[in-house]
Amino acid sequence: MGKFVRTLVTSALPYANGPLHIGHIAGAYLPGDIFVRYNRLKGNDIVYICGTDEYGVPITISAEKEGKTPQDIVDHFYPIIKDSFDKLGIIFDNFSRTSNPIHTETAQDFFLKFLEKDLLVKRESEQWYDPEKKMFLPDRYVTGSCPECGHEGAKGDQCEVCGKWYESVELKDPISLLSGKTPVLKKTTHWYMKFNEFQDRLKEFIDTRKDWKNNVINYCKGWLDEGLEERAITRDLDWGIPVPLDDAEGKKIYVWFEAVLGYISSTKEWAEKKGDPSLWEKYWKSEDTRLIHFIGKDNIYFHALMFPAMLMGYGGYVLEDDIPANEFLNLKGSKLSTSRNHAVWLHEYLEAFPPDPLRYILAANAPEGKDTEFSWADFQSKNNNELADILGNFIHRTLTFVHKYFDGKVPVQSKLNKSDGVLLTHIEEAVSKTGEAFSTFKVRNAVKHMMDLARAGNKYFNENEPWLTRKSDIERCATTLNMSLQSIKTLAVIAAPIIPFTSEKIWKFLNLSETLNWEQAGVTDLKAGHVLNIPEVLFKKIEDEQIEEQEQKLNGS
Ligand code: 2FM
Ligand code: ZN
Repeated sequence: MGKFVRTLVTSALPYANGPLHIGHIAGAYLPGDIFVRYNRLKGNDIVYICGTDEYGVPITISAEKEGKTPQDIVDHFYPIIKDSFDKLGIIFDNFSRTSNPIHTETAQDFFLKFLEKDLLVKRESEQWYDPEKKMFLPDRYVTGSCPECGHEGAKGDQCEVCGKWYESVELKDPISLLSGKTPVLKKTTHWYMKFNEFQDRLKEFIDTRKDWKNNVINYCKGWLDEGLEERAITRDLDWGIPVPLDDAEGKKIYVWFEAVLGYISSTKEWAEKKGDPSLWEKYWKSEDTRLIHFIGKDNIYFHALMFPAMLMGYGGYVLEDDIPANEFLNLKGSKLSTSRNHAVWLHEYLEAFPPDPLRYILAANAPEGKDTEFSWADFQSKNNNELADILGNFIHRTLTFVHKYFDGKVPVQSKLNKSDGVLLTHIEEAVSKTGEAFSTFKVRNAVKHMMDLARAGNKYFNENEPWLTRKSDIERCATTLNMSLQSIKTLAVIAAPIIPFTSEKIWKFLNLSETLNWEQAGVTDLKAGHVLNIPEVLFKKIEDEQIEEQEQKLNGS
């Protein structure tokens, strides 16, 4: 933690235009939740903020497709999204909505402050216009070829292939999504942020962020090398936060200028709910706060350049300490997509399976350094061969043995031998290695080190053969079970950020009175005679038929 006394963590605000899919979870939410859970277990001052992103073109396009109003769309999806997060155990301190009045105030305040500080300029320019639909075509209402890399079918605001963020008028061969025709250019007035004025400060900012992931640094350096340009931060749209000026009829604040501010609004809402409305400032305006954004790689531009510029421009705000952006999780070789219905939907998953296996698989397969792939076959194999056969099995065989032969009480530990010493080393290493991995956003490593301890536990159990020593050397048998239980206690703690529901169950089996916390990891203090609870099966095997059913759903989608 160093100079920091508190941490504010955000995960990208999901658009409220569809349910969550596992790609969202793997990129921005599970890694954030794991990091926050670890810090909570350590007793660190940490606040985890999120909410739905409810304005902008992605929402209005969904509304048009479905023949509904944008309001209907966001009101429909907000509770679905929130419920899925709850059920998957992604626990935010506050989960807000950008349509809440507190957010309108925050966004309009930023807009006015930028105007006051001469960081905005009002300009007339030409924008795409659909003469048939009599409408300007901001952002994703147009597609065309990326002006940077030439990718065809690029979105109107940002290229999915090279990540470049551009003005939609820069698109080559534009097509209106509304009429399918080529749009025309028509004059309109907008407010532009003098993004170019932040060039030097942003360069210095990025240059001092030495520990950031390479992907984030490299993208930013590339964009900075090209030079930042003025960017329009208003749009001609009905749905959005009104530009708070008299001469701005029909003008709305651009979704990306306001969405990132949703983190601040949601923190304000959290503080109000806590009965201390100014508490949010401690998290946003003190130098000793560490601000961390969990995002997918498509959001790097907005979090690593645009938002810092907004915070610098306003003044008095803390800047990002880290932005651990992830690559994408793919499905059958291509990126998951809400609009193309190419996804495993979280709410559907949760109807069929418990939350922890998915958390485990997505953490083990986290797209940290490169894109990774989800498959149902891998899901089944990791659930059955790792969670059930290694972790679940070690815990179950130990506890049932103790219930059968030691009256359900922690057996007495006698003199330790070499093999006990090896297990103790595994326990210590697992604590330090998972701790290091959790605090540096390396969830794949955390999973590996946690499972290494479960593997070591099984090996220890097999090598010590308590089913034989029960008859030949009861002291040795008791010590073996005692030591196995000690390692299970550590497993419960170090697994908690990854598979919290399971970890709670293990803690309950151990019948421990203190709440589970990181201090307890590696502490082998289960007392002889302490009464244990009867275990239940932690991970049910997933049958082939269950997987086939999911595969079919995917093929049908
Ligand atoms: O890409 C997205 O899903 C956006 N809704 C992310 C917004 S993150 C932040 F700006 F709030
Ligand atoms: Zn491109």
